[in-house]
Amino acid sequence: GDEEDWEARPPVVTVMGHVDHGKTKLLDAVRNSNVVAREAGGITQHIGAYQIVTELEDDERPITFIDTPGHESFTAMRARGAKVTDIVVLVVAADDGVMPQTVEALNHAQAAEVPIVVAVNKIDKEGANPAKIRQQLTEYGLVAEEYGGDTMFVDVSATTRQGIEELETAILLTADASLDLRANTQMDPQGVVIEGKLDKGRGPVATVLVQRGTLRQGDSIVAGDAYGRVRSLLDEHGNKLKEALPARPVQVVGLTSVPRAGDTFLVVEEDRVARQIADRRQARIRNAQNASMRKRISLEDLD
Ligand code: GTP
Ligand code: NA
Ligand code: MG
Repeated sequence: GDEEDWEARPPVVTVMGHVDHGKTKLLDAVRNSNVVAREAGGITQHIGAYQIVTELEDDERPITFIDTPGHESFTAMRARGAKVTDIVVLVVAADDGVMPQTVEALNHAQAAEVPIVVAVNKIDKEGANPAKIRQQLTEYGLVAEEYGGDTMFVDVSATTRQGIEELETAILLTADASLDLRANTQMDPQGVVIEGKLDKGRGPVATVLVQRGTLRQGDSIVAGDAYGRVRSLLDEHGNKLKEALPARPVQVVGLTSVPRAGDTFLVVEEDRVARQIADRRQARIRNAQNASMRKRISLEDLD
C-alpha cells in the first residue's frame, strides 16, 4: 500500500503474573476504574481489553491494555495473550515474590520475543521487598537497569497509585526504543479474537483486537468459524463506535455464533463470502474432530 496508509498505532500491552499479584487492580489504577470489585471472588475469569490515553508531560498517548487471569488453569490464555502483544507487563507482588505463574508468564513472553517491563506491585505492604524481586528475576534473565541489565523495573502500588505514571512512562519508552509500531489503516481489516461470549440480550459478542485496516460498522466479517455483519462496534465503556483502527480492542455485535479466543478475524466483500468461508472452516473442524475420534477408536481397539 501507499506510504501514507501506514500510521502510528498504540502499543498493545498484556498484563501477566501470578494469581492475586494485582494485575486487574493495577489496570484499575491506570484506568481510574474498579473492575476488581465487580469480579466474582476477585478472580479474573477472562481476558479484558481496554484502551487508555496517558497524559504525561502534556503529551496524550494511547496504550491498549489486555488483562489476563493468573490462575493455573488459564495457561492457554496467557500463551495467546503473549502472542497478540507488543509488550508484557509482568506483575510481581513485592510481599510474595516470584511464583509459578510469574515464571510461566515470563516464559511465554520470552518465547514470543516480547519485551518485558516488570511492575513490582504492592510496595505499600508491610514485608514488601522490591530488591528481592529484582534479585529473584535475574535467574530468569531479567536484569534490572540499575544492576547493569536492560529490563525496566518499576515499583508500584495499585492501591495508593504510587508509581503509576512511572509505569506508563516505562511502557512508552520501551515502545519507542524497541518497536516500530505502525499499521496500515487502508488494508482489508484483520485481527484476533480476544474473547467471545453469548450475551442474553445482544447474542454472540466478540471482543476483538484490530491489527490492521479499519473495522467498520456494516462490515461482513468472519471470525474463526463464526460469521456475520457488524451490527455495532462498542468500546470498553459500551459507547458505539463507527470504526476501529489498529490496536483498538472493540466489541463486535452481529455474529451468528460465538468465536473462540485466539481465532483470527477478517473482513470480506459480501455476506455470502463470509458465510462460505465460515462453512468451510466448520467443515474442516468437523473433519478434524472425526479424524481424531476415528484415531481414538482405533487406538482403543488395540488395547
Ligand atoms: P487474578 O486475576 O485472579 O490472577 O488476580 P490479579 O493479579 O488480577 O489480582 P487482583 O487485582 O485481583 O488483586 C488481588 C488482591 O490484591 C486484591 O485484594 C487487591 O485489592 C490486592 N492488591 C492489588 N494490588 C495491591 C497493592 O498495590 N497493594 C495492596 N495492599 N493490595 C493490592
Ligand atoms: Na485476583
Ligand atoms: Mg485479575
